[in-house]
This record gives sequence, structure tokens and C-alpha cells, in this order.
Amino acid sequence: MQTKNLINLKNIVVAVITIVVIYLMVLTASRGGAYHGGEQGKVIEDISKVQMPTQQDTQQYSQQQQQTQPKEEVRDELKELKEKAGSIGQINVSLAYKSKCSACHGIDGSGMQDGRKLIGPKLYGQDAEKIYKDLIDFKAGKKENVIMSGLLINTSEEELRKFADEIGAFSSQEKNQK
Ligand code: HEC
Repeated sequence: MQTKNLINLKNIVVAVITIVVIYLMVLTASRGGAYHGGEQGKVIEDISKVQMPTQQDTQQYSQQQQQTQPKEEVRDELKELKEKAGSIGQINVSLAYKSKCSACHGIDGSGMQDGRKLIGPKLYGQDAEKIYKDLIDFKAGKKENVIMSGLLINTSEEELRKFADEIGAFSSQEKNQK
């Protein structure tokens, strides 16, 4: 009698589980779940529908790009504006100038950096002979400036000549670029 009851109970449990499983299967099927390529499947399908750019498209795009490049006039205007603003173009400086002088006189000798005035005056555009004389005078103590004199104590006249020539040529470097 007891065993029969147990078997009955077992049957009921199995039946319930079977119903639940079937219900879940039906549910997944109707929603189009993973097994049936539902939402996920659609995404993959969508991607396959996206058109790859044709060669014509690419050509059109590069033409548009070319059109948006500044025209010669605009570039000239920009150049003029820059000159008015007093900005100095890229100047090639020696390592010696860069390390010893640029901190106070600017990397281009303008005495400016990022729109702010530096400690040292503008050297750009000054004549090499004038710069050389200034440097010699600083070194000799004839022209007094604590900073510059102290700086040049260990600098030979030969080196001063090189600095003067280099700085004196800054402005001709710029003219060559134009
Ligand atoms: C620590 C800052 C500093 C450094 C570094 C420096 N200078 Fe100067 N320099 C000055 C100052 C400040 C003056 C202005 C002195 C004055 O007018 O009395 C000056 C003035 C000058 C002048 C005279 C310019 C003028 O119009 O009167 C020359 C030339 C010069 N420096 C060249 C150099 C050179 C070349 C170097 C690198 C070897 C150098 N300086 C490094 C601060 C500096």
C-alpha cells in the first residue's frame, strides 16, 4: 500500500516537471530565444544587411575631404593674421641655444612663450654684431645684468660668437620659409 502511494507521488512529480519543461520550451520557442535565433539571430541578420561602402562612395568621400581643405587664399589670410599677431614661425635652434637661452628668451628668440612674456627681452630680429657686443659687454661686466653676466662667466668668446651668429640669423630663417 505504501509503495503504491510512493509510485503515485513519483508519477505526479514527474508529470509536473514534464509540464513545466514543456511550458518553458513553448515559451522560448514563441519568444524566439537563443536556440531559435531570436533577438540575437536578428542582430546578426541586420548586420549582414548593412551595405558595405562601394568604391563610388569612397571616392565621393575623398572628394568631399579635398573640398574642405583650406584654399590657397584662406591660407594666405591665415599667414597674414599670424604675422600681424607677431607670431614667429618655427625656427631651428641649436641644442646650446635651446638649453641655455630659450628658457628666458623664447625658443624662437621672441621673448614670449604661449602668449606670456618671458624674463629675457626679444632677441629675434636683432643684428648678430649687436648681440655679440651685448654678450661681450655682459661678460666683461660693462653691461650690467646679474642674470646675463652670471650666465656668461663660463662661456668663451668663441661660443658667444656662435650664439650671436645663430640668433642674428633667426629672422633670415623665417624669410626663407616664406
Ligand atoms: C635666466 C634668464 C636668461 C637666460 C637663461 C638668458 N638670458 Fe639673455 N637676458 C636675460 C635678461 C633678463 C636680459 C635683459 C638684460 C638687460 O637688458 O639688462 C637679457 C639680455 C640679453 C641680451 C641683450 C638683449 C637686448 O636687447 O638688450 C642678449 C643678446 C642675450 N640676453 C642673449 C642671451 C643668450 C645668447 C643666452 C644663452 C646663452 C641668454 N641670453 C640666456 C635673461 C636671460
